[in-house]
Amino acid sequence: MTDAPLVLGIESSCDETGVGVVRGSTLLADAVASSVDEHARFGGVIPEVASRAHLEAMVPTIERACATAGVRLTDVDALAVTSGPGLAGALTVGVAAAKALALALGVPLYGVNHLAAHVAVDILEHGPLPEPSVALLASGGHSSLLFVTDVTADVRPLGQTIDDAAGEAFDKIARLLGLPFPGGPHVDRVAVDGDPAAVAFPRGLTARHDLERHRYDFSFSGLKTAVARWVERAEADGRTIPVADVAASFQEAVVDVLTRKAVAACVEHGAGHLLIGGGVAANSRLRALAEQRCLAAGIRLRVPRPGLCTDNGAMVAALGAQLVARGRPPSALDLVVDSSLPVTTVRVG
Ligand code: KG4
Ligand code: ZN
Repeated sequence: MTDAPLVLGIESSCDETGVGVVRGSTLLADAVASSVDEHARFGGVIPEVASRAHLEAMVPTIERACATAGVRLTDVDALAVTSGPGLAGALTVGVAAAKALALALGVPLYGVNHLAAHVAVDILEHGPLPEPSVALLASGGHSSLLFVTDVTADVRPLGQTIDDAAGEAFDKIARLLGLPFPGGPHVDRVAVDGDPAAVAFPRGLTARHDLERHRYDFSFSGLKTAVARWVERAEADGRTIPVADVAASFQEAVVDVLTRKAVAACVEHGAGHLLIGGGVAANSRLRALAEQRCLAAGIRLRVPRPGLCTDNGAMVAALGAQLVARGRPPSALDLVVDSSLPVTTVRVG
């Protein structure tokens, strides 16, 4: 395996500057610099702040990744970079860095899809991806169900959120409950002491008539409003908000729908494996319920460790290495970013 090409991957689609180094399907380094603290006081990612932070972090993060991997830039055989979807300015920083490196080193450049990279990263941890698989990606920026027959060439969207992303809903509810940003980990933590059945919050797009049109789509904005109204009413009545119960009940509503639709997608598409990725995959209740429901349906569950679920460079390098291994052609050096790159475009031509 030591002869496999050395691939350096760069991720800058949101607030993490990630640089990963992969040889074949072996992870050698995964350096991440996050600007999340700079966004905290705004309660969400500010694109201009993120772009500036990427500019500052890019070169030191590349250097750190190479040092950890014990390689020199001149050892790199191919470069991969997220070219979309994501924040246009943030993506541009990564793509500009990758182009400069590819040109200077004389190596091929692969512009790749961020969502497909979230899927490919699991190969580093759990080996080749059984095809077909269904992937559930849930983060602050995306909530999608994908049907994957070939992670380098054939990734089809089954459904996605029609309003807020799952992580965005966690962040907004955390804010409402007075918890810090990003809220997902805090909701997860306080929910441990709460009763998930305390409040019966709505399960978006699960009614029979919704399932006809939105079988694998998600909606979290109605849930968010329901939680806000519930808290307002309780406050108006002079009651103390039972934060743990509200957090647990909200979390249950999100993970119930995510896992129910993901397992249904596997069953209905004949996929024996479900992969879960994105920041929300770190959620302890999501992992537990997914395990329980996959077991009941005879589906194998694959979830990368939390550090590989959130945005990182290893996922981009992992997809790049797969593209190289399968002999896919590299991208042109005039590659441009596409903030709304469709998931069907795994590799930008
Ligand atoms: O993948 P990610 O790092 O960045 C993108 O948004 O692409 O995901 C971050 C999101 C945030 O919304 C955060 O609140 C959520 O993932 N998150 C969680 C947990 N850890 C992170 N949500 C629920 N439970 C968690 N334990
Ligand atoms: Zn992501």
